[in-house]
Amino acid sequence: MVTVQHPDSQQGGRSRCLGRPTTIASLATYVPPRLLTNKDLEQLVDTTDEWILQRTGIRERHIVDPGVATSDLGKEAALKAIDAAGLKPTDIGLIVVGTVTPDMMFPSTACLLQHKIGATNAWGFDLSAACSAFTYSLTAASQIVASGGVEHALVVGADVMSSIIDYKDRSTCVLFGDGAGACVVSATTDSGAGILDYEHEIDGSGGPALCMPAGGSARPPSHDTVDQRLHYVKQDGQTVFKFAVRKTEEISRRLLERNGLTPDDLTLFVSHQANRRIIMSATERLGVPPEKVIINIERFGNTTAATIPLALNDAVESGRLKKGDLVLLASVGAGFTVGSVLVRWGF
Ligand code: UT7
Repeated sequence: MVTVQHPDSQQGGRSRCLGRPTTIASLATYVPPRLLTNKDLEQLVDTTDEWILQRTGIRERHIVDPGVATSDLGKEAALKAIDAAGLKPTDIGLIVVGTVTPDMMFPSTACLLQHKIGATNAWGFDLSAACSAFTYSLTAASQIVASGGVEHALVVGADVMSSIIDYKDRSTCVLFGDGAGACVVSATTDSGAGILDYEHEIDGSGGPALCMPAGGSARPPSHDTVDQRLHYVKQDGQTVFKFAVRKTEEISRRLLERNGLTPDDLTLFVSHQANRRIIMSATERLGVPPEKVIINIERFGNTTAATIPLALNDAVESGRLKKGDLVLLASVGAGFTVGSVLVRWGF
């Protein structure tokens, strides 16, 4: 394998990226039209608009109508992203779908999506990393493109969280929403753009702090698991909160330092959107000023695999992210999973 150092990584940097340079060639998102507001949630559980806004930063989230699946959201985002890259679905060689709410246990959502969009030349797979699914999928797809395996990969982060949320549990139901984001990752010869480096971790000791206990091989579905409401998200919020603040800072700092960079070099910091307070604490510790931080959790809640592309899309549409800008992505999710990707924006 030939290592091609991207020009950005040459000043004292040792990127983990191997092979030819890759770039994010396009990005698109989709959220279902139906809104679930804090006021709506006040009718369902013992909560208030004020509590939700103060403790999480969320005002509203989008949720699907019955029968709409993750692949349906992914399809809308994917077709727009492929078109924006100037490609056709048949140009896509690989599909990676990051999700924790696949349409079904199998076949994979990547297979269902491939058929729905007519990407007849693609292979692909689902990637399970919860809220780190987008950073992990981006790295996995980028390195397969970098190896020469395919020219163009489609990375989709999509979740229908409303399908696994207990709308009787006020500690979780106020947090999550549904949505999808997709980007095309392509090989590039443009030295002014690229997926420059990545850093990822898992820590399985955190598993019980955030999980859906039943429905898998350990506890197959039964009347008992349904009666005990075990097919829903269970979370120890404070444990996840503390881990997320610490690890978002730690992994971001490590990735910057390895590349000889400081927060001053960044145009934008785009974190997974789980809680406004997590993002504010982590970026304050890291030394990234608020004007370089994208927070759009107010409108979408935590859409798990889709938050980072939804935040990137807002940054592009508002003119805060332009070609050549240096952006750091960071995520912490169930598992625990931790991820960070350094990107020089490609369009
Ligand atoms: O994407 C990765 C996954 N998730 C996360 O990163 C989320 C991480 N955790 C969090 O964001 C926060 O821990 C939460 C938003 C989940 C909870 O906020 P908190 O400030 O940690 O609240 P808490 O769990 O310590 O609860 C404080 C109080 C409790 O009442 P008591 O025991 O003090 O009387 C809760 O029962 O707030 C109560 N509470 C609520 N009150 C009104 C919990 N949920 C609600 C609610 N409305 N929805």
